[in-house]
Amino acid sequence: LRATMIVDKAFIISTIDARIYGSFVEHLGRAVYNGIYEPGHPLADEQGFRKDVLEMVKELQVPIVRYPGGNFVSGYNWEDGVGPREQRPRRLDLAWRTTETNQIGTNEFVDWAKKAGSEVMMAVNLGTRGIDAARNLVEYCNHQGGSYWSDLRKQHGYAEPHRIKTWCLGNEMDGPWQIGHKTADEYGRLAVETAKAMKWVDPGLELVACGSSNTAMPTFPQWEATTLEHTYEAADFISLHQYYGNRSNDTASYLAYSMDMDHFIRTIISTCDYVKAKKRSKKTMFLSFDEWNVWFHSNDADKRLEPWAIAPPQLEDIYTFEDALLVGSMLITLLRHSDRVRMACMAQLVNVIAPIMTANGGASWKQTIFYPYLHASVYGRGVALQPVVSSPKYDSKEFTDVPYLDSIAVHHPEKDELTVFAINRSLEKSLTLECDIRSFADYAIIEHIVLEHDDLKAVNTAEHEAVRPHNNGNAIVQDGRVKAELSKHSWNVIRLG
Ligand code: AHR
Repeated sequence: LRATMIVDKAFIISTIDARIYGSFVEHLGRAVYNGIYEPGHPLADEQGFRKDVLEMVKELQVPIVRYPGGNFVSGYNWEDGVGPREQRPRRLDLAWRTTETNQIGTNEFVDWAKKAGSEVMMAVNLGTRGIDAARNLVEYCNHQGGSYWSDLRKQHGYAEPHRIKTWCLGNEMDGPWQIGHKTADEYGRLAVETAKAMKWVDPGLELVACGSSNTAMPTFPQWEATTLEHTYEAADFISLHQYYGNRSNDTASYLAYSMDMDHFIRTIISTCDYVKAKKRSKKTMFLSFDEWNVWFHSNDADKRLEPWAIAPPQLEDIYTFEDALLVGSMLITLLRHSDRVRMACMAQLVNVIAPIMTANGGASWKQTIFYPYLHASVYGRGVALQPVVSSPKYDSKEFTDVPYLDSIAVHHPEKDELTVFAINRSLEKSLTLECDIRSFADYAIIEHIVLEHDDLKAVNTAEHEAVRPHNNGNAIVQDGRVKAELSKHSWNVIRLG
């Protein structure tokens, strides 16, 4: 197989908003309790946060973390999670059928995010609650002082406001599984009125309105068209959520699911621009892909869990090497749309469909998907460039014309670096890549990182990291071209400078 590419610093897609490398921590399973927080663990800090987990999150350079849900937020009373811990109530969480102890709430999470070097993306409950609880939470978090809720925050030990800028107007309100599920018109009306009140408390907020839960929803994409008619001027982003799984063990199709993601993004851009035209608006709506990942391995195990436990092992997908390839391809897709996708959250961060795993009282380790996320977050900053790609293609059961080569380039002008992210989707053959880097004539290879494994189903465990990258890739620069042999089913990061 042989593919060619042209990369030129003039072929600019967009400056990348670093927030496309965001993540998500929900009160769900062992994400918060025994994930980020485990008092009594030998590696817990003075607040009970696991330092080993914090180190890995810092390594990922996660710019923003969505919190506290997810489905959880649609039944959450944020007031339960602030103030003296011993007075915080235990509640039934109807979304995940567990018991929530409220030992972690808004203030503790803000502290944790600070330690991790991340901003918080806060979600408000538009399931069981609405305008009042939302505007009070904004006042509690962001108002300087001299009012009931801001003074309560001070009483709780936080003299300075948290200054949380980015807020989600509910979560997946189109889904019948959601507590307080709504029709598009019901949600649109509630979202716009909540947005108004929140921005009246703090005009600096950026708000994300709920799009569809996934493309299979019967109301997709009419949900977006209808809700945006209500929220277009009040919201700044619309959310997209999508998870994939290799349920029929058809890897050729599975690795092409990023094409479905690409189509999803294009559909939402069209829908936003349709509403823009209809409203004669000057404003462009941006996309927040605030839940994306692979999620299917744990589905059966979750059906067997007893209800009302505290922090049970829920949604604990153990990721394979092939999952890491699809995750890499999804990251490439986000970069390709970085002109409109300005935020994205890998769902989630720790234990729950996550790149980072922990054992209660024990070790922590990196799942396979940790690595493409790490590479994209660390090296995928700057300006996304549109490559002109010519690649052989294949047909699978679910897709036609799937390019073997999936690739994007990122230029970091200040660092004077160029990074080419490339996946060879072929399950049988290596791929010879020739990339014309005409406008980067004096650049040389810094390193060629490769994530590869013979066994597509290889996984990492606490004891053994079977899937980890090496930087012995064979990329060279010759006659103004990058030449590399990309191993079959591999993720490649070719760094030049
Ligand atoms: O991330 C897990 C769940 O997936 C979230 O709670 C929900 O928003 C989505 O359905």
